Amino acid sequence: MNKKLQKLFSRGSKFLGVDIPIMGGAMTWLSESNLVSAISNAGGLGVIAAGSMNNNQLEKEILKTRQKTKKPFGVNLILLHPEIEKLIDTCLKNKVDLVVFAGGFPKKRQIQKFTEMNIKCMCFATTLSIAKKMVDYGIKGLILEGNEAGGHIGPVSINVLVQEILPEFSEVPIFVAGGIGRGEIFLKYLELGAAGCQIGTRFVCSKESIAHENFKNIFIKSEARNCQISVKLDNRFPVIPVRAIQNNASIKFIEEQKKVLRLLEEKKISLKDAQLKIEHFWAGSLKKAVVEGDIDNGSLMAGQSVSLVKKVQPVKDIFSEIIMQADEQIMIESKNL
Ligand SMILES: Cc1cc2nc3c(=O)[nH]c(=O)nc-3n(C[C@H](O)[C@H](O)[C@H](O)COP(=O)(O)O)c2cc1C
Repeated sequence: MNKKLQKLFSRGSKFLGVDIPIMGGAMTWLSESNLVSAISNAGGLGVIAAGSMNNNQLEKEILKTRQKTKKPFGVNLILLHPEIEKLIDTCLKNKVDLVVFAGGFPKKRQIQKFTEMNIKCMCFATTLSIAKKMVDYGIKGLILEGNEAGGHIGPVSINVLVQEILPEFSEVPIFVAGGIGRGEIFLKYLELGAAGCQIGTRFVCSKESIAHENFKNIFIKSEARNCQISVKLDNRFPVIPVRAIQNNASIKFIEEQKKVLRLLEEKKISLKDAQLKIEHFWAGSLKKAVVEGDIDNGSLMAGQSVSLVKKVQPVKDIFSEIIMQADEQIMIESKNL
């Protein structure tokens, strides 16, 4: 690896306790012991997705991952989880290396619990003021996630978040996420001051990922433009912005909203029941696609970098490719000087 790249890696690597400051973005149903340990063994930091787990399942997954890697790994905790406090206790009890809070912003007391145990906590920052508030609360690292990313997303692109927050903020290391699929762009974010990055979509089709073959195949076939944000037909509907490959379910979701809107207008349904119908539409749908392989009716959460996913390959090859691309870019630029 090029010396310059090594230097650019140093802050993020030191923070994560790894060789390469690439975090495996936690993906519900996908980020379990196999993928997480493969990412950590390849030199990055794997992160278990606890979104669909109860505390017993999480504890088992932590122990299973520890059997597969001696390297550090993290746990992603969704703050809206009904058993969030139990999941926090499970992470504390098992003294995991790092926790990433998602689906909201952690409370000060939640962060403090981890700090007291010397466990690093990270969360997402959507604005500069939130970044500052989280650091005041004791957060040790931040993730900026652009809306090119797969899954639940914010409204702003990584291009703008990076300009808005990176130059203004040096207190804690910042990792960037969303649309990262190659080494050249990773290098550019490091040069702009990022400590590292977080990647999800590119790891879905890794050999070690347990995603169903159908799920992997649709990723390989899809282009960036196939990954669209969920459509909301009425502001009263609780439609969470999710980026996913468009399929039959996305069309049905629009039809369902039209149907519910008609029922509402005809006063055949209360607003609360209408909202519940919309909310329930996607329940269980990610599992349906990822685990059962039902790519017509399930949710195909994916980021725009899906267009850079060309084949099934081992995690360590994905890492090698990214490092090689960053190294080559440095060489090209040094020759042009
Ligand atoms: C299928 C899928 C499931 C995801 N599930 C979660 C999750 O449970 N928690 C979370 O914080 N982010 C989740 N994400 C976001 C990733 O952790 C990561 O931040 C994102 O994929 C990075 O952008 P990229 O997809 O462009 O690489 C998910 C993304 C995908 C594609």
